[in-house]
Amino acid sequence: MKQRILFVCLGNICRSPAAEAMLRVVVEREGLADSVVIDSAGTYGGHSGELSDPRMRRAASARGIAMTHRARQVREEDFERFDMVVAMDDNNYEALFRLAPDREAQQKIFRFREFLRHHPDWSYIPDPYYEGHEGFELVLDLLEDGCETLVELIRNKI
Ligand code: 4NP
Repeated sequence: MKQRILFVCLGNICRSPAAEAMLRVVVEREGLADSVVIDSAGTYGGHSGELSDPRMRRAASARGIAMTHRARQVREEDFERFDMVVAMDDNNYEALFRLAPDREAQQKIFRFREFLRHHPDWSYIPDPYYEGHEGFELVLDLLEDGCETLVELIRNKI
């Protein structure tokens, strides 16, 4: 069965669209693209319709990752449309928990940090919006780590 994964951050213009684009590259590399649906959304809707932050797109592009997502706000029906809803930090996690309509939906919510294998010092994906270039590079390093774990989970579930 297809695995459907939604990444969620605050604005949906930096971390979660980068996670979406990164996982897409990894599943394509592994020949699993037809087995996965990947999307992203934000808990805050203020950037809806916008392309991702140019700083995030530039940093991703330098690693061969194209980002074409348009921001949107997460909504209750996303808990029906996706199997896993992956929060970038604890604030996103708590906002998702409040939005989830029932216990079954709550059980679909994960923290991205659960998939980190090589970054024991990080318990969340830090918001790079007010950071310099290094903030965006760190986000991509963390996302690469977690996406390698996620692709193994996907392989085992399909
Ligand atoms: P993101 O970063 O949650 O990774 O997309 C942010 C983008 C925009 C804002 C905050 C964080 N903002 O406050 O507008």
